[in-house]
Amino acid sequence: MRTLTTDTVSKIGEEVTLQGWVLARRDHGKIMFLDLRDRKGIVQLVGNKALGDARAEDVVEVAGLVKKRPEAMVNEKIATGTVEVEIQKLTVISKAHDLPFPIDTNGYEVNEEIRSKYRYLDLRRPRMARNIRLRSKMVAFIRNFLLTQDFVEIETPMLTKTTPEGARDFLVPSRLQPGKFYALPQSPQQYKQLLMVAGMERYFQIARCFRDEDPRRDRAYGEFTQLDLEMSFITQNDILELIEGMFTRLVKELFPDKHILKSPWPRLAHKDVMKKYGTDKPDLREHKDDPDELAFSWTVDFPLFTEQSEADFFYGSGKAKFAPSHHMFTAPHPDDIPLLDTDPMKVRGLQHDLVLNGFEVGGGSIRIHQPEVQTKVFDLIGFTQEQKQEFAHMLTAFSYGVPPHGGIAPGIDRFLMALLGEPSVREVMAFPTSASGTTSVMDAPSTAAPEQLSELGISVKGPILGKSGGEGVYARIIEDLKSAGVAYEPYEHEAVRTSEEAARIRNTPLREGAKALVLYADDKPVMAVVPGDRKLDTKLFKATYQVNDLRMATPEEVEKVTNVQIGAVPPFGHIFGIPIYVDAAIRENSSVSYNAGMHTRSVRMAEKDYEKVAKPIVGAFSKLTNA
Ligand code: AMO
Repeated sequence: MRTLTTDTVSKIGEEVTLQGWVLARRDHGKIMFLDLRDRKGIVQLVGNKALGDARAEDVVEVAGLVKKRPEAMVNEKIATGTVEVEIQKLTVISKAHDLPFPIDTNGYEVNEEIRSKYRYLDLRRPRMARNIRLRSKMVAFIRNFLLTQDFVEIETPMLTKTTPEGARDFLVPSRLQPGKFYALPQSPQQYKQLLMVAGMERYFQIARCFRDEDPRRDRAYGEFTQLDLEMSFITQNDILELIEGMFTRLVKELFPDKHILKSPWPRLAHKDVMKKYGTDKPDLREHKDDPDELAFSWTVDFPLFTEQSEADFFYGSGKAKFAPSHHMFTAPHPDDIPLLDTDPMKVRGLQHDLVLNGFEVGGGSIRIHQPEVQTKVFDLIGFTQEQKQEFAHMLTAFSYGVPPHGGIAPGIDRFLMALLGEPSVREVMAFPTSASGTTSVMDAPSTAAPEQLSELGISVKGPILGKSGGEGVYARIIEDLKSAGVAYEPYEHEAVRTSEEAARIRNTPLREGAKALVLYADDKPVMAVVPGDRKLDTKLFKATYQVNDLRMATPEEVEKVTNVQIGAVPPFGHIFGIPIYVDAAIRENSSVSYNAGMHTRSVRMAEKDYEKVAKPIVGAFSKLTNA
């Protein structure tokens, strides 16, 4: 029933129904002109104002008659410029507020945080809508191209073990094995090599990669997408030719306005580009003012190693002499293998970087497939025994018949950014993370509910919300109470140091005060919580929990464990990552009051809510005191 805007040109004289958004409205006396936008484009509507009130960005349905425009009225700038639709019936399906920013501009002038918050509106902007649609076409092209070349598309795990590409990992806590973590992949590097051992021979994946590194204009924070691929029984030249052939056709088919400056793409030795341009990703464009010029090149013959520095982040190493120039699976040039023992800095690596207009838009290499060479590289980059153990599966896999293999991973975001001349990778991503690490629209990261954390065996420790010590703990308590959705009464008062003083100043009964005691039970810090008017019976505690040795922590130990001064420790163990044991007598009161991390702050709340948030580790409340 619906006609799309661009199809109106072939329906002159017909009655059509259009649906979409009002792009703009212009009034001329009794007549209104509406530009209607849908996924295909725009078309002009014209009708009597009395037909209804439609404003910019309202969603409307229009029944109307397609009419040919008189010659003088033709608008050549739009695909439907030869027609207009005479409105017969106008229905507003959904009204729109005024938008927080204009969407008929290119948007670069709008604050990025605001664009990010209303990304779904920002994507209505023609430039953004075009970028996202082009990205889809690009991925579809790549997929079709590779599938016809005998490649297999394979998904690899997101919940995995670290695959270091030189950045920090994102960790995901495991609920089934508390205290253990998955790492999100920085790239599928190890899996794709394992797929070569598996005999897949030609693998690709449009792969999401996760890296915790500072964002830059060509580097997304958090996540980005690679075309990851790997092949067996090939040479470096095979990889370069495949990629060059694919992208040359892609540019021709999807970006006909663009032109590639030089074909075949220059292959430049690392040493030479460094000398000539001072960078390994030279901008070889000859007409920098031509937005459609594309200068591709390859940088090859990299040294296998660079000098290791503090900034080389593989599990806090930074102490050995050498760091991989690309990554630790890149093969040395076969002629240079003996140099690994004598002069590692002279070893050339079989790495290849793809460069476009001054951006490194892809990187890859021929891989090491000899276990002994891999071990040697691990040693040279200073891996400890444990670190080597983390990659033992690779060496094991390589002991069962591994084909020589290699590959590359062009970055989809960065490639498209460079190709379109966009100022940042975020301009080609639908929902990018902002430069400050906050996700579009949804405002992640956020705090987790105490229940979730306790299920994961996790306690968030130390300063939060940029506050430290007692203030941080106080802020943390308030957050926990808020996220648990419980009612509480905060107090600010003169500094108090004992349960008696606190009860007096809060004007709450002494027995309602929850006294948090830090103890060492068999040398492990624990917390016992007892009413303000009672004393912990250590014998009862030891018997109930089968503890041999139990002693009170010293004031210094209390501070070390809780970050909080003695007298201000709140009755929550989860904040400090220690088990909490609550005396059954706490339940005799309907409310609980306590110093909330500071001598000058207290909180009072219902006892049953306290139980909910404090989550005593040992389920039932046991008798730990005598009346
Ligand atoms: P590398 O780490 O060089 O290699 O990454 C390959 C390509 O991915 C893109 N890229 C990024 N794009 C946006 N934001 C980021 N933070 C980001 N980081 C990287 C770049 C880069 O050229 N496993 C190897 C590939 C291989 O050896 O086959 C790897 O990931 O375009």
